[in-house]
Amino acid sequence: MKKIWVGTSWKMNKDAQSAKEWVSSVLPHLQLCSDGVQPFVIPPFPYLSQVSQLLNQQPIKVGAQNICWQDEGAYTGEVSPLMVKDCGGSIVEIGHSERRAQFGETDHTVNLKVLAALRNDLTPLVCVGDSKEEKAWGVSIESVVRQVIIALYQVPSHRLTEVLIAYEPIWAIGEHGVPATKEEAQQVHQAIRQAIQERYGEATADQMVLLYGGSVNLSNASSLLDQKDIDGVFVGRTAWQAEGYAELLNIANAKVKG
Ligand code: PGA
Repeated sequence: MKKIWVGTSWKMNKDAQSAKEWVSSVLPHLQLCSDGVQPFVIPPFPYLSQVSQLLNQQPIKVGAQNICWQDEGAYTGEVSPLMVKDCGGSIVEIGHSERRAQFGETDHTVNLKVLAALRNDLTPLVCVGDSKEEKAWGVSIESVVRQVIIALYQVPSHRLTEVLIAYEPIWAIGEHGVPATKEEAQQVHQAIRQAIQERYGEATADQMVLLYGGSVNLSNASSLLDQKDIDGVFVGRTAWQAEGYAELLNIANAKVKG
């Protein structure tokens, strides 16, 4: 039985104090969390050690918002996958659309980072998404599938299912985003799974964890999680308040209990 993944990236938000407060408010909810739910939190780099120490022994994965594709060397300003691990991270977000749009992240660097994460036993969480224009042109699926296939290039077949994919339509993310309907999200998730099946077989496609992100809130999370090919949610704003994140965990817990 696959777990339901419920995660948040804080993006470039919070400070040491508010990070600590978020963790203490979420802790009791983690202790009540069903085994069928996999929580994760991705703070900014400076708080990674602090958050992972506070959450040590809890059933929540803690991770980083980016890594370098090299393990060490002359890469000023970058953070190595080894450093992420050293700070207690076990998961790494790769290729969020904000990084692709504003920091020069490409399909090629996303793939290099996926390989670097796996090489260092970090779980890569690859974000893929279509733009508003691609949606209007009717090429959302083509665009997203292309990003997925490139991200998985040269991943050894026995490690493919370690890679998590988050479908995050660019038009759905953030303050001005319009959440995908459950039908829109399911359609793209199904296409991603099908493309994986065509290349890597049915067993891999079935096991692959596909998350949805982009204006997930307390009203749409449940119906998104009901979709056949949506294995979890990756959430920004709604989960930055501990109460919001706790409520998302409750929604997922309720699904596990049926
Ligand atoms: P949002 O962010 O939930 O605030 O739309 C989602 C994301 O960027 O992953």
